[in-house]
Amino acid sequence: MQTSTPSLTAPHPARRATHAPALYGEPMYEITPRELEPAGAQALLTELFEPGADRLAHSLGVGQRAEYVAKALDRPGLLVSAAYLHDVGYAAPACDTGLHQLDGARYLRLLGAPDDLTSLVAHHTEAIVEAAARGLDAQLRGEFAPPSDSELLDLLTYCDMTTSSQGKPVTVDERFGCIYDRYPPGHLVSRSMRRAEPHLRRVVSAVEERLKLT
Ligand SMILES: [Fe+2]
Repeated sequence: MQTSTPSLTAPHPARRATHAPALYGEPMYEITPRELEPAGAQALLTELFEPGADRLAHSLGVGQRAEYVAKALDRPGLLVSAAYLHDVGYAAPACDTGLHQLDGARYLRLLGAPDDLTSLVAHHTEAIVEAAARGLDAQLRGEFAPPSDSELLDLLTYCDMTTSSQGKPVTVDERFGCIYDRYPPGHLVSRSMRRAEPHLRRVVSAVEERLKLT
C-alpha cells in the first residue's frame, strides 16, 4: 500500500515569506508557507496557472500518473506532490533564470517545501543537462543536492516523459515528438533534450518494466 508523507512543510517554514502567494502574472514576493501534500499541491497549481493552460493540464496529468505509480509501486505521497509541482517553475511568479527546474525548486523553498521535495523538482527529467547549457549547472547542484532516493527521481521523470503537454498519457516516442515540434532544432531546450534523450529513454523503459511486474 502507498505510505503517506508525514509532512510536506519544512520544519522552519517562514523563511522570507509572510503573505499570500502571488497570483498568475504577479511578481514573486510576500509569499506564505503552504501545505504541499498532493491536495495542497493541486490547489497551488490552480492559483498559479490560468484555467485551461497547457501547463496546468500537463501538471495535473503528471500528478495523476504519479498517483497511479505511487500506489502500484508502494511509493510515498512525496512523489505525487513532486509530480503535481514539477513544472511550477514555469508559473509567472516563479520564473527567474529560465531553467524551470531551478526556478520551481526555489519557489517551493520559499513556500516552505522540505529539501526532499525541492530536490526532486530541481533535478527532474535530467535538469542538469539543460542547466549546463544555460551555465547554471553549478548553481543547480550547489543549491539543491540530487535526491537521496534516486528511484523517486526516475519515477517522477517517467511520469513527466509519458504525459503529453495537454495532460494525456502518451508513449515516450510521442512525448519526444511533441517536444521537438514545440522547440526548433537549434533551440536550447531541443538541443538539451537530444542530449538527455538516451538516458530518459532508459529511465522510462526501466520503470515500464517495473510496472509490468506489479
Ligand atoms: Fe513536465
